[in-house]
Amino acid sequence: MDIENASQPALASTPIFLSRRADLCGYTYAMLRTLEYACAWTVLTDDVPFKLALGNLIGGLGELIERVDTRLDALLIDGPRLLASPAYEAALESGMGSHSTEDRRVFLSATLSGVAIHMHAFVGETHKVGDAPTVRLLTESAMRIEALLGDFHSASSTVIARTFISPALAGALAYTGLESVPTLPDQPGRPAAWEFKDESVFRHTTLQTLLERGEHLERWLHEVGINIEINAVEVCARNVVDFRAMPLAFKVDMARQIWDETRHAAMMQEHLHTIGGEFGRYSYNDKVWRRYMLGVDLAERLAIEQIFQEGNALEANIPFSQALSRAGAMDLAEMLDYVNADEMRHAAYGNKWLKYLCAESGRDYMDVVRVAVAKLGMPLSPRGAVVPWLRQMADFPEEFITMMVGSGSKATEID
Ligand SMILES: [Fe+2]
Ligand SMILES: [Fe+2]
Repeated sequence: MDIENASQPALASTPIFLSRRADLCGYTYAMLRTLEYACAWTVLTDDVPFKLALGNLIGGLGELIERVDTRLDALLIDGPRLLASPAYEAALESGMGSHSTEDRRVFLSATLSGVAIHMHAFVGETHKVGDAPTVRLLTESAMRIEALLGDFHSASSTVIARTFISPALAGALAYTGLESVPTLPDQPGRPAAWEFKDESVFRHTTLQTLLERGEHLERWLHEVGINIEINAVEVCARNVVDFRAMPLAFKVDMARQIWDETRHAAMMQEHLHTIGGEFGRYSYNDKVWRRYMLGVDLAERLAIEQIFQEGNALEANIPFSQALSRAGAMDLAEMLDYVNADEMRHAAYGNKWLKYLCAESGRDYMDVVRVAVAKLGMPLSPRGAVVPWLRQMADFPEEFITMMVGSGSKATEID
């Protein structure tokens, strides 16, 4: 319903209620804009610890955006949900001038600190009983922002909070997706000292050679941690920046996946350290990124990354974790159990949003996937057998599963 429409009564009319609700729209706006900057810098930066710190921050922001946005539904929001005062958006534009890791840390910390301070003030002033759900939400959100920033900014930097300006003031702007965001490069950033080689560094031939916890495992953790997990972080971050017209829920899902892939990379790195290895010791490649970039639009990019690559990985990774577990490598198996649980959801995100895009545009899911995967020059089906119930859990359409099973990959059960 349009609140401007005189024939309809407004659902809420007191200036104080409307002003506080607009504050919430301002918080989601501020957090989305910082999420966009963080995503762009995740792709751009060649500083790997900073890249992973951004991934953790993005995950936290996605959750907070979703929670505040959900509260807006309960407050009967019926107009634009992402609002900023022009002066505040102008202040956020200053992020475009942040080129060093330190400047970027300070920009994000200052902006989010200002939001947390305003949330505390809101809690002190709003209706204690009527708005109790917002009081709880913002008390927790402000604490969560402070905890995220505690992990994020370096101890040496001085952060002066950027004053949050409420969009409840006259002339609020609704988010358009055309606001400034850094331009992304064709290649994600990597440390200059790292060597690029268009090949994998895997050398293991059997599970046993990985279990020796020597060079073979080192190479495996290096390859997967950087070329699969960090590239997946960057692919999802690019989706947020390149496809800003998508619904907020899409950005929240991408933020969740970014955090998941960040944790996967961090776990690989941690295991690498326990056996004396480190990121950068071997060469890196960009296969996952390059395949993703072959997609001409979001539908094809989701088909390539989440549906084809992450979907096919479901059948390979679960038996691998089980084999490690049977061999007694419980630490590695445990890591993969967490990875696999997340990957199931990533394939489901691909299906959810490709189905959405197909419904919007009248395109056919199967056609999009076939066209996208043909660009990779690879067979659509996984090397091993397709496991229908795994695919169903990840929301693959029945037609797709039937086609996969019938196209040479026979169905199997995982024990
Ligand atoms: Fe992953
Ligand atoms: Fe994934």
